[in-house]
Amino acid sequence: MAFSTLIPQKDHLLLLDQRLLPGKTRYIKVRTYRDAYDGIRHMAVRGAPAIGVTAAFGVWLGARTIRTTDPRRYLAELERMCRHIVSARPTAHNLSWAVNRMLSVARSGRYAPSATAAALYREAVRMYHEDIDANRKMGDYGARLIRNNWTVLTHCNAGALATAGYGTALGVLRSAKDAGKHIRIFADETRPFLQGARLTAWELQQDGFDVTLITDNMAGWMMQQGLINACVVGADRIAANGDVANKIGTYSVAVLARVHGIPFYVAAPSSTFDPTIASGSGIVIEERPVHEVMTIAGRQIAPDGIKVRNPAFDVTPAKYVTGIITEKGVIVPPYKKGIRALLG
Ligand code: MRU
Repeated sequence: MAFSTLIPQKDHLLLLDQRLLPGKTRYIKVRTYRDAYDGIRHMAVRGAPAIGVTAAFGVWLGARTIRTTDPRRYLAELERMCRHIVSARPTAHNLSWAVNRMLSVARSGRYAPSATAAALYREAVRMYHEDIDANRKMGDYGARLIRNNWTVLTHCNAGALATAGYGTALGVLRSAKDAGKHIRIFADETRPFLQGARLTAWELQQDGFDVTLITDNMAGWMMQQGLINACVVGADRIAANGDVANKIGTYSVAVLARVHGIPFYVAAPSSTFDPTIASGSGIVIEERPVHEVMTIAGRQIAPDGIKVRNPAFDVTPAKYVTGIITEKGVIVPPYKKGIRALLG
């Protein structure tokens, strides 16, 4: 891979600014916890696992600036910063998961305030490596489900760009290719933010995949023509019953896949599972600014004053999901039992 999504440095984090892709490859310096918040909120970094890892480094950057030697005041200040980081985006579970994991290090009582930031840096780096490792394991499990000469549809970007590296859904496809299978990929463009056109197409093209870009409304026709053998997507939050929140349009793909008898797989690490939410109806769906729908590449495409909705995610009921590929294996229905076992 010719790029890194996140590059940890000694006193900051470098983030590939995904808003500029595919035109420009430019990194931004994240020096403070507020920079981390901004990077997540304004989509310089996106994709649930990448958001989580960025947030972890954000907590470390915040911790570095706390001056008090009083443990209680130190923790109170860190918790305030963490609340701010978590408020950047509501749907991806990896965000609060990562921040809580960082907080549990700070709360462990093992470190004096003066030593906490260094411990948090080590934890963030661990999470960075664990994410890549989880993706590779998902790749190994998922690749077994993909047959030689299949064409696979994916939605949004669940690739190296959406993670610390390698990718979840695209990691599965990378592993299938590495295992010697010839696969073709159809990438939905993913309106309105165009993660499929700008990011998935770019990322897969760089890796030499046979990738074809389609608009979101073409998927049904492609399936009807018998051109798609499987769908593989990522996830932002998975409820205890297996309902999956992912990029808006995922639900439509899943229903179409069911109608056409095509397997629909979700690839996600255990950090994306939220056992505190019983079903998808409890998942908060982010509503994003209307200009994303009103414009394409900065140019207005709809009349002034028109009413616009822009939910960034939808929920695919578990009944449409053939299997959930995780770093510990593939979960199949009944999901409640499998998810309980996964999270131990
Ligand atoms: O709004 P985004 O770009 O952060 O949404 C990303 C997705 O929906 C991805 O499919 C999901 O986070 C899985 S990424 C491995």
